[in-house]
Amino acid sequence: MTVAVTGTSGHLGRLVVDSLLAHGTAPGDVVATARDVAAVADLAERGVVVREADYDRPETVKGALAGVDVLVLVSGSEVGRRVEQHRAVVEAALAAGVSRLVYTSAPRATTSALVLAPEHKATEELLAASGLSTTVLRNNWYTENYVADVLRARETGEIVASVGDGRVASASRADFAEAAAVVALEALRDGAHDARCTSSGETSPGRTTTWRPPPPRSSTGLWRTAG
Ligand SMILES: NC(=O)c1ccc[n+]([C@@H]2O[C@H](COP(=O)([O-])OP(=O)(O)OC[C@H]3O[C@@H](n4cnc5c(N)ncnc54)[C@H](OP(=O)(O)O)[C@@H]3O)[C@@H](O)[C@H]2O)c1
Repeated sequence: MTVAVTGTSGHLGRLVVDSLLAHGTAPGDVVATARDVAAVADLAERGVVVREADYDRPETVKGALAGVDVLVLVSGSEVGRRVEQHRAVVEAALAAGVSRLVYTSAPRATTSALVLAPEHKATEELLAASGLSTTVLRNNWYTENYVADVLRARETGEIVASVGDGRVASASRADFAEAAAVVALEALRDGAHDARCTSSGETSPGRTTTWRPPPPRSSTGLWRTAG
């Protein structure tokens, strides 16, 4: 039984592969795809099957998915082009007989006003129409997205953001990757061929936080509320 992960030259895809291996999956049962396989040469050295898959060249995706049972499709990073790119992956998965496709979507993708949501909504819709057995993981905000802000704040003493009292339920990429790996392994174990089904879940921690800073701490001077 084989599980493939796309976008393994990126942060999340790499972590999904790491989680699969950490769960004891044999490296030879893991297919790591990337459009630049040189970027994942270290995975090949660890025994992982590395294959080229460029969403813009559907023939490469079809080749990469040969013999794959479960596919984790890490959403692409080229905003504005992703629906057609994801469509190419879904069509390749259908042609390859993939039994379950796990897709990393966005929070409340079908109703969210988030500017990035429409491509995820469209992908969820094309998955639903495809007839593939699908698990949609609506991953929330990466905590790592704040790293640059915090590093800058160390220099300037300020975090500038237009969030007001908005709340966020972020988690680390490693946690989202672990969720994807567990879902993929359960699909492998349960034999998704026999259970054509679609499930969707909001992948987020059960708590939200605000950007409202704690009381100023003179020892660090990190937080200063403007206005
Ligand atoms: N939840 C959040 O906060 C958040 C934030 C940012 C993004 N995202 C979404 O989550 C995804 C994974 O996040 P990440 O941090 O791992 O992003 P990332 O490090 O930028 O990785 C994106 C991956 O997609 C690959 N890719 C892009 N276009 C491709 C194409 N045409 N064909 C094949 N592969 C392609 C990239 O390949 P290359 O290495 O060749 O470029 C890379 O491996 C992102 O792509 C985006 O959809 C979520």
